[in-house]
Amino acid sequence: MIKNSITYSLISLTLLFCLACKKDTRSTEVSSTQDQNTEFKIDSILSKMTLEEKIGQTNLRGTSSRVKGSLPETLKTAVRNGEIGAFLNVMNLDYVKELQKIAVEESPNGIPLIFARDVIHGFKTIFPIPLGLAASFDENIAKTSSEIAAFEASSAGIRWTFAPMLDISRDSRWGRIAESPGEDPYLASILGKAYIEGFQGEDLSSPTRMAACAKHFIGYGAAIGGRDYNTVNMSEPLLRNVYLPPFQAAIHSGAATVMTSFNEVNGIPVTGNTFLLKDVLRDELDFSGFTVSDWDSTVEMIAHGFAKDEKHVAELAANAGLDMEMNSKAYEQHLKDLIKEGKVSESQLNEMVKHILRVKFRLNLFEKPYIPENHNGNLYAEPHLAESKRAAIKSTVLLKNDDILPLSNTTKVAVMGPLAHQPHEQLGTWTFDGEKAHTITPIDAFKKANITFNFVEGLSYSRDQSKENFNAAINAAKSADVILFFGGEEAILSGEAHSRSQLNLPGAQEELLKELAKTGKPIVLVIMAGRPITMTNIIDDVDAVLMAWHPGTMGGEALHDIIFGFSEPGGRLPVSWPKNAGQLPYFYNHKNTGRPAEVDQFVQMDSIPIGAWQSSLGNDSHYLDIGYTPQFPFGYGLTYTYFNYENISVSKDTIGFDEHVKISASITNTGQRYGTELVQLYVQDVVGSITRPIRELKGFEHVELKPGETKTVTFTISSEDLKFVNSKMVDAAEEGRFNVWIGPNASSGLRSSFYLKQ
Ligand code: NOJ
Repeated sequence: MIKNSITYSLISLTLLFCLACKKDTRSTEVSSTQDQNTEFKIDSILSKMTLEEKIGQTNLRGTSSRVKGSLPETLKTAVRNGEIGAFLNVMNLDYVKELQKIAVEESPNGIPLIFARDVIHGFKTIFPIPLGLAASFDENIAKTSSEIAAFEASSAGIRWTFAPMLDISRDSRWGRIAESPGEDPYLASILGKAYIEGFQGEDLSSPTRMAACAKHFIGYGAAIGGRDYNTVNMSEPLLRNVYLPPFQAAIHSGAATVMTSFNEVNGIPVTGNTFLLKDVLRDELDFSGFTVSDWDSTVEMIAHGFAKDEKHVAELAANAGLDMEMNSKAYEQHLKDLIKEGKVSESQLNEMVKHILRVKFRLNLFEKPYIPENHNGNLYAEPHLAESKRAAIKSTVLLKNDDILPLSNTTKVAVMGPLAHQPHEQLGTWTFDGEKAHTITPIDAFKKANITFNFVEGLSYSRDQSKENFNAAINAAKSADVILFFGGEEAILSGEAHSRSQLNLPGAQEELLKELAKTGKPIVLVIMAGRPITMTNIIDDVDAVLMAWHPGTMGGEALHDIIFGFSEPGGRLPVSWPKNAGQLPYFYNHKNTGRPAEVDQFVQMDSIPIGAWQSSLGNDSHYLDIGYTPQFPFGYGLTYTYFNYENISVSKDTIGFDEHVKISASITNTGQRYGTELVQLYVQDVVGSITRPIRELKGFEHVELKPGETKTVTFTISSEDLKFVNSKMVDAAEEGRFNVWIGPNASSGLRSSFYLKQ
């Protein structure tokens, strides 16, 4: 119902604009004639542009995300002269209008500007952080959230967002895991496509849509040690099999722009990497939009030790195929000389400008450069808030439940913890525009629902070390039936440049939980954080754990509904949850070693005799202290009911390369409540010309089941799904045996197998 009303509201508003500007209505399929027309127009503009104006188009002028400031005359003059192609973070509507007017009416060729901003998981109405949205395993949630973000943000003149972030993240120390789709390329590709469709719609020329930017191309999530901006070393098959697929999906879905990442890959910064930007992105993936550097990632090639000075930066970046430079001014200051000196060809610059103009045409900015008068973005509209709440419910993962959740609404609860009532923190990283005043915290939601509760924070922020309020919290706990502890990380502890080396609850949260546990009252721990939080110290002290990520504007209402049983927690882990940071990077789709870890081979360090003789015999690939399994596997998440998997079957023992196999299993709801199971399909290519992961996600389906109900779930696999890039860079499936599992997560499930043969 909710979904329908949103779709209706968005469609009807979009229709309104289309009716108001009839001439702009385009068919969704841009015909080749239209393409040719656009290309003709681009060539015609290009032929009139001076070298300076062409260089101007490559110039993305940055302003701080916070400062609204004034509009300096120098900027206006630069726009008037055609020296700037785009802006980021101009958050004053009058300035947007004024700058655009100057560009269109006074600059030599009247080329409109594009205004950009980081609209990452919502503009005003904030959705769960992207890692949370990934936990929904729901493309519809990803698509609708970005559709709403585009609708709201475009009313502020923003027609270009720096999203989606599609970096595979296998290391929770990396702060930017919060912005990522998690560790799995299959899930990330599905989400990547959905985000592009949501932001851009079928018709990017609609004034309610934004050009998307698939970022950060590429390998950024593989920073050594999970430390942001760090060096990346990776083999080409790894790059192609794991890190590239989400970008490929986004580009095939029409992503208008791509951002180059800060990192180097195998010794060459991506921003100056011809192989990645030309051979892979343009020639192989057929990308026709424009590339933009990350903020200063051009000039940072000097610190990388790849460019000797800014002029060299401009030469390397332009020749590698970087179209637009964000913030820094290497192109502005040096491209002209480089062209005169023959170090960069004018035809290279022409290509760059063509890419940029093409996106400006797709956005219909030449015809309609201004925000339509009647577009107010419906900021915080009811359907937007309802969708934000639905997304938070579908993203929340139930990690542990010793028969305590859901609570009855007559339960006497003591609410505590540093994130119970923090409207700013629950919005998460990259929320420049979401406002505290519109955020519903758990405390707000409990009050609204007339829950009887006692609220004693205990700690006033997540890093708080003070034990001053412990006694008050303990006393409140003693007179309650259940303790509801909202802990985790403040928003600023994840995101860009916010990597951590330890991933436990910061401050004195663990100590407070230990003290509360001594009261003997059951504890429900609700975590709000930008990444998995290690819990080995406290997991046995708490009775239930809900991972809410940073849940966004409506997080409080969503959590109220889950905790009191009006909704079930819908999320599953899009990343493996580590036991401790020493285990990282950890990811479910790893390779086997020659001595794969096994339960009966595990040697716990305390069992080793003192003075033991040096020996590795009988041991395998594990840690002596924590073994080899994660705390919770990829795909894991409990519900308020139970499911039983039975009868896995494959339709054929052997398939040819042009055939398919159906893999089925029956799932029964064996509990007392209605529930939704995320049924997952994993495949292992047992022997490959290069070694293959122990499992790879190849399908998933949400299955709704009433108590006692059974449904059969069937997945279809063909050789297309079994392809991988081998050491010769050939993308092909190989003959042999494939194991398959249908199950509730990456560490369990029913197993069968089939063969692929010529
Ligand atoms: C740096 C970040 O890496 C990138 O994701 C963001 O879009 C830009 N800054 C612009 O804010």
